[in-house]
Amino acid sequence: MKYERIINSEQETEQLAQQLASLLKPNDVLTLEGDLGAGKTTFTKSVAKGLGITRNVNSPTFTILKQYEGRVPLNHLDVYRLADSDEDLGWDELFYGDAVSIIEWAHLIEEDLPPEKLAIQIHRLEEDKRKFTFEPFGKRYEQLCEELFE
Ligand SMILES: Nc1ncnc2c1ncn2[C@@H]1O[C@H](COP(=O)(O)OP(=O)(O)O)[C@@H](O)[C@H]1O
Ligand SMILES: [Mg+2]
Repeated sequence: MKYERIINSEQETEQLAQQLASLLKPNDVLTLEGDLGAGKTTFTKSVAKGLGITRNVNSPTFTILKQYEGRVPLNHLDVYRLADSDEDLGWDELFYGDAVSIIEWAHLIEEDLPPEKLAIQIHRLEEDKRKFTFEPFGKRYEQLCEELFE
């Protein structure tokens, strides 16, 4: 089961992200896929806001991982630059802690990801228009999607 939502503005992206954030719990894992400029980092910033994170969240491309304290802590990963690395960097340990994890370009570390997660795809349709596709893997995320899209 996949859930699709057409988004017409950046504000709508922010709303969707904050609604999702209100349902998130420690240990949740979200993967974000979409071309450069699709809105992965923009979406993550609003999830962070919704988790009660007050620090500015920006793209972790050059550091790969940034961690933030909040009502629920956040691990924000952007693994784009790991594209040509075969090394096992042990990211998986992150995904079993107390934080919510959001991973941009997650397919590049597919083997390190937990089997249960919420996979989010963002397609840029037009200037400010996006198509979001949510695909839950596991009971926890199926319930989360039902609540989010009911
Ligand atoms: N509906 C929308 N949702 C998200 N971003 C949008 C939207 N409309 C326009 N934008 C713009 O698109 C860009 C998305 O950039 P960013 O979030 O860094 O993408 P990514 O992390 O996927 O490379 C930003 O400049 C943002 O202002
Ligand atoms: Mg980004």
